[in-house]
Amino acid sequence: MKTLDEVLLGRRSVRRYQRQPIEQEKLDYIYEAIRATPTSYNGQQFSVIAVTDPEIKLRLYDIIGQKQVKTSAVFFLFCLDFHQLELAAKAKGVEFPDFQNSLNGYTVGVVDATLAMHSAIVAAESLGLGTCCIGYARTADPALTSEILGLPEKTAIICGLSVGYPAEEPDLKPKRPTQCVVFENRYGSDDALTPVLLDYDREVSEYNRERAGDKTANDWASHILDYHRIEKQKAIEKYMKQQQIDITLK
Ligand SMILES: Cc1cc2nc3c(=O)[nH]c(=O)nc-3n(C[C@H](O)[C@H](O)[C@H](O)COP(=O)(O)O)c2cc1C
Repeated sequence: MKTLDEVLLGRRSVRRYQRQPIEQEKLDYIYEAIRATPTSYNGQQFSVIAVTDPEIKLRLYDIIGQKQVKTSAVFFLFCLDFHQLELAAKAKGVEFPDFQNSLNGYTVGVVDATLAMHSAIVAAESLGLGTCCIGYARTADPALTSEILGLPEKTAIICGLSVGYPAEEPDLKPKRPTQCVVFENRYGSDDALTPVLLDYDREVSEYNRERAGDKTANDWASHILDYHRIEKQKAIEKYMKQQQIDITLK
């Protein structure tokens, strides 16, 4: 097992994997870590699909277009899930409040699913496996992906996660300095933040010019804002409505 330092401070996204399956005991350990995730009210408003079937992975790769989907040993899909509570409510004759149709309810599902994904990342990394979150699983035709996975109404894909034995060890990416990330008691002033952010921006440019593997001329801010411009166009409202998650309803 890796040390906590190695898991938390030495983690990097791994996008190339060995052709080696993950042992069932290791998968079981990851599943247990997922089960133990803290969730709002212990309502566990999430579920996970672990795709191990190469044919299904290939179909998902055709949709999602990220090579890790097919080359990973297991491709996980983390979903918000109000379906199981609805099932229990129906069985018990209890009214279902449609909490998922509110920004608060939707956020509860997203947070639960995201924390579950982080549990999986920590567990997998501790076992020496490599991981990479795949947000495109949510934005590249999630309706078709959901159909393939048989996702019922009131569940929705939040994020994918590829897991496998690593075939690369990319350089660690520079992160924002602690003084921009954690504020003790009160948020920092713009005057204090701006020079630190610009220094960080330069550090990212330098890292991208010098890093092992593909080198780029990307900085931090402009590059990420380009992503935001593109991602802003990718609407998931229609998909969410189709899954009976509609935060425009009251
Ligand atoms: C929610 C989320 C979605 C992501 N989606 C993708 C993706 O679709 N494809 C990909 O290659 N990496 C994806 N990543 C990985 C990020 O690019 C990566 O975490 C980031 O560049 C920082 O690098 P590091 O993980 O090595 O620290 C995603 C990460 C997160 C947290």
